[in-house]
Amino acid sequence: MNYKFTSKCVEDTLTLAENIESEKFPGMVLCLNGDLGSGKTVFVKGFAASLGIEDNITSPTFTIVKEYMSGEMPLYHMDVYRISDNEDFGVEDYFNKDGVCIIEWAELIEDKLPKERLDINFRILDENTRVLVFVPHGEEYEELCNAVL
Ligand SMILES: Nc1ncnc2c1ncn2[C@@H]1O[C@H](COP(=O)(O)OP(=O)(O)O)[C@@H](O)[C@H]1O
Ligand SMILES: [Mg+2]
Repeated sequence: MNYKFTSKCVEDTLTLAENIESEKFPGMVLCLNGDLGSGKTVFVKGFAASLGIEDNITSPTFTIVKEYMSGEMPLYHMDVYRISDNEDFGVEDYFNKDGVCIIEWAELIEDKLPKERLDINFRILDENTRVLVFVPHGEEYEELCNAVL
């Protein structure tokens, strides 16, 4: 089953991310897809703030992965938008770790993603409205969607 959430402003997206953060577990993998400006990084900011991370979160475009260790749990934030074919940054090493992985543009590395994960697809409706479609893969993520949405 898919789940849909309509965000009418930045604050809605931040709040949603906080609610998902409250259901976090070690090894959680969130895969964010959607056009530039659809709110993926806003979501990561809300999640990180809720974890207690005070750093300013920006898309790690040139480093691919940023690791934030100052929150309740490690956060591995990736943006694979500019990844080139065959480039291997060892993404698998970040799964099943002690923290949460959030991957922007995850569909670009689809064959490397774990089977159990939560896909969140962002769509721009108008200037301030975003539709988020949640596609859980695995029971744990199905339960998470039921709890939060
Ligand atoms: N409902 C909304 N949710 C998230 N961002 C929104 C929303 N409405 C407008 N925005 C704006 O859209 C932009 C989203 O940017 P960003 O999160 O960096 O996108 P992405 O990482 O998907 O490229 C921000 O400028 C933000 O202010
Ligand atoms: Mg981004």
